Amino acid sequence: EMSAQERAFQERIDAGIKIEPKDWMPEAYRKTLIRQISQHAHSEIVGMLPEGNWISRAPSLKRKAILLAKVQDEAGHGLYLYSAAETLGVSRDQLVDELHAGRAKYSSIFNYPTLTWADIGTIGWLVDGAAIMNQIPLCRCSFGPYSRAMIRVCKEESFHQRQGYDLLISLCRDGTAEQKAMAQDALNRWWWPALMMFGPSDAESVHSAQSQAWRIKIFSNDELRQRFVDQTVPQAEYLGLTIPDPDLKWNAERGHYDFGAIDWDEFYNVLKGNGPCNRERLRARRQAWEDGAWVRDAAIAHAEKRAARTAQ
Ligand code: 3HC
Repeated sequence: EMSAQERAFQERIDAGIKIEPKDWMPEAYRKTLIRQISQHAHSEIVGMLPEGNWISRAPSLKRKAILLAKVQDEAGHGLYLYSAAETLGVSRDQLVDELHAGRAKYSSIFNYPTLTWADIGTIGWLVDGAAIMNQIPLCRCSFGPYSRAMIRVCKEESFHQRQGYDLLISLCRDGTAEQKAMAQDALNRWWWPALMMFGPSDAESVHSAQSQAWRIKIFSNDELRQRFVDQTVPQAEYLGLTIPDPDLKWNAERGHYDFGAIDWDEFYNVLKGNGPCNRERLRARRQAWEDGAWVRDAAIAHAEKRAARTAQ
C-alpha cells in the first residue's frame, strides 16, 4: 500500500515531471538509480580499454585520430555519469572502489578481446549501435540529471557508430578478400555478446517492472533488442556480411526478424567474472588508478593552495 508521499511521487512520474536531486524520492528509487547510473559510468570507463588496445596500431593517422576522439568521449561520458550518480548521495571514490574490488557491474560486452582492427569497426557499429538504442529512451527517463547527461552523450554516440560502420565499409566494400574475412570474423565474435548488452529476457529481468513503473526504463530489454536486430540486419547485408545466426529470418506476420536463442549461460558466466577479459580489465583499471594518483594529489594540493590564497 503506497503512502501519501509515494502516491504523490508516482503521480509526478506519471505526469512526466522530472525528479530532481533535492526532491523527495522513495529510497528504492534512489538505490536503483545509483545502481544503474554507476554501472553505466563503469561501462564507459572500462569500455575505453578494448578500443585503447588499438590506438597505437591504427592503420592510418585519420583512423588513429578518430579512435582517440572516441575513447576520449567515452572517458567524458563516464565522468558525466559519475557526476549524475553523485547527485544521489554517493561519492565517486566509493563507486570506483567498488569497481576495483570487483563488486560493481559494468556492461558484459567489454569483457571480450579486440583481436583485429575489424573489431574496432564492429564495436562502433554494434556496441555503440546497441548503446544508442538503449540510451535514446534514457534521455526521457524520470531522473533529471540522468536524462540530461544522456542527451549530451547521445549526440556523441552517433559519431561513434558512424565511424565504426564507415571503417567496415572500407574493409568490406573497398577492401581485399582478406579484409572482408577479417570483418566477418569480428561479426561472428561480437554479434551475440552485443545482443546480451540489452540485458536478460523480460521474463528474467529483475528490475524491469519497477524501472518501467518509475519511467527509468521506457522500453523493455526484449523490445530494444528486437529493434536493434531489425535495424542491424540490413546494415550487415549492405556490408555483404553474414550474421552468425542460422535461425535469423524475416517474419512478415510479426514485421520483425525472428532470431535464435541467446546463450544465457555465457551471459551469466561473464557477469560472474568469468568472461575472457574480466580479470585483465579490472587489473588495468586498478593500475591506471594507481598511476594517476599523483595527478589527483597534485590537483588537490593546487586547489588547497588556491583556496588558502583567496582566503587571505
Ligand atoms: N552487462 C552487465 N550486467 C547486466 C547486463 C549487461 N549487459 N544486462 C543486465 N545486467 C544486470 C543488471 O545490472 C542487473 O544486475 P544488478 O541488479 O546487479 O544491477 C541484472 O543483470 C538483471 O538485469 P535487469 O534487466 O533486471 O536490470 P536493468 O533493469 O538495470 O537493465 C540495462 C539492464 C538495460 C543494462 C540497464 O541497466 C540500463 O539501461 N543501463 C544503462 C545503460 C547501459 O549501461 N548500457 C550499456 C553500457 S554500454 C555504454 O554505454 C558504452 C557505450 O558508449 C559503448
